[in-house]
Amino acid sequence: VKVKQLHRTAFHFQPPKHWINDPNGPMYYKGIYHLFYQYNPKGAVWGNIVWAHSVSKDLINWEALEPALYPSKPFDINGCWSGSATVLPGNKPIILYTGIDYKERQVQNYAVPANPSDPYLRKWIKPNNNPVVFPGPDVNASAFRDPTTAWWSNDGHWRMLVGSRRKHRGIAYLYRSRDFMKWTKAKYPIHSLANTGMWECPDFYPVSISGKNGLDTSFAGGNEKFVLKVSLDLTRYDYYTTGTYNRDKDRYVPDKDSVDGWSGLRYDYGNFYASKTFFDSRKNRRILWGWANESDSTFDDMAKGWAGVQTIPREVWLDGSGKQLLQWPIEELETLRGKNVHISNQELKKGHHVEVKGVTAAQADVEVTFKLPSLDKAEKFDPSWKNLDAEHLCGKIGSKVQGGVGPFGLLTLASKNLEEFTPVFFRIFKDGHKHLVLMCSDASSSTLKTEGLYKPSFAGFVNVDLSDKKLSLRSLIDHSVVESFGAGGKTCITSRVYPTLAVFDDAHLYAFNNGTETVTVEKLNAWSMKKPAKMNS
Ligand code: FRU
Repeated sequence: VKVKQLHRTAFHFQPPKHWINDPNGPMYYKGIYHLFYQYNPKGAVWGNIVWAHSVSKDLINWEALEPALYPSKPFDINGCWSGSATVLPGNKPIILYTGIDYKERQVQNYAVPANPSDPYLRKWIKPNNNPVVFPGPDVNASAFRDPTTAWWSNDGHWRMLVGSRRKHRGIAYLYRSRDFMKWTKAKYPIHSLANTGMWECPDFYPVSISGKNGLDTSFAGGNEKFVLKVSLDLTRYDYYTTGTYNRDKDRYVPDKDSVDGWSGLRYDYGNFYASKTFFDSRKNRRILWGWANESDSTFDDMAKGWAGVQTIPREVWLDGSGKQLLQWPIEELETLRGKNVHISNQELKKGHHVEVKGVTAAQADVEVTFKLPSLDKAEKFDPSWKNLDAEHLCGKIGSKVQGGVGPFGLLTLASKNLEEFTPVFFRIFKDGHKHLVLMCSDASSSTLKTEGLYKPSFAGFVNVDLSDKKLSLRSLIDHSVVESFGAGGKTCITSRVYPTLAVFDDAHLYAFNNGTETVTVEKLNAWSMKKPAKMNS
């Protein structure tokens, strides 16, 4: 008998079974989007890693192909780890990836399509002149991986980065090549930082300073800013800075007020790691893919037979302030929107929650704008909280602790009598003359299950101007994923949760307020989401 899977997602990317991790080599080629990803073809735990391969015409409906890369040569016999694609002039895709070689060293290899006229790029060749990059005597061969998409500079060289560490210093090594085959390490890394540990999956790309349009990774107009993202193995979050790429020195310099390291900006304050962007030449945008790992136990992963999903592809661009990125689910997601319900001008008094009825609350897209009262009653930010990060603060004063302005937001994946719910909410504090806006996605009450799972109170601050007294929130709810975008994508949080009661038609959605000040749902739209069809090839 096939047991109905409570927690499989409907519209997030996941294969039929087994383990997945990092998205790899995303690209657009001849009308087709390609997504490769780290995959264990033999089970729901990490291991036996290959590059699984799926293709799509719209980034929503996917068709699985055979793995593109799997261990077969001395230079990758122990694993085909993460990497990136670059589309060379003449529309020639090439993959750089990390091979775990016969001596368990991390080396960088390349692969090319066997048949470039096949838009699906089903077969890949790993030529015998691999590896193209060896760790070298001064590099830690067990911490040397995840090559980036390469960019071309007008000195005739390609450049790419490889993540690494030296003792506790995180490093992005820079390599140059004329022909993509012979790579030379630059004297200095493009960037590094003490006490951040291994930098996994670096990503480096230009962003436009005027508008939403994305830029090709090789774009060099002179005015653009750059983003460097690193995945910190020690904390398991993806951090980025905005900054300047000094092409003469070949160094990246974060902006003065862009904090480098653990207290810096994150793409997502939740379950989101090892992400990667690519430039989508079809729509002139830059798209971000991230991996949302499970929060339950390995035992449960094995019982489910699968582990890991990819988050919804997000468009990324620079905020008008120039100080952070904005992220928003790609517009194609909206093709899955089905039945819609709408609420407007609904007051939420202290302690109240209002049900959003008429949509499939376990599989929904919700957009809401809250109108706030005067902020005078915002609670004072307790100086003792300054030492806490947002996550610990949310854990301490969650949705159930009454505040002044907030907590207010959504109760997602809620059971009828609120035995289970995952609140996604804001809480506004007064800190001297400023206001601080905390956004939380709190898994602590998400399930009655207690054994072996991780129920973090994920949170981040939202750097938003409240002069119009409005705050918006969008949540993509998909059985075991709640992926949320605060203030138009300024702060994003993804939670993985495993309700036992709030499943399928027994899941409910509410708007709530637990602050003394009344807040108003100015407008709310919720849609039942359809499951994507398999792409017709
Ligand atoms: C990040 C990572 C990468 C590595 C891959 C192996 O999650 O550890 O650094 O290439 O996963 O699967």
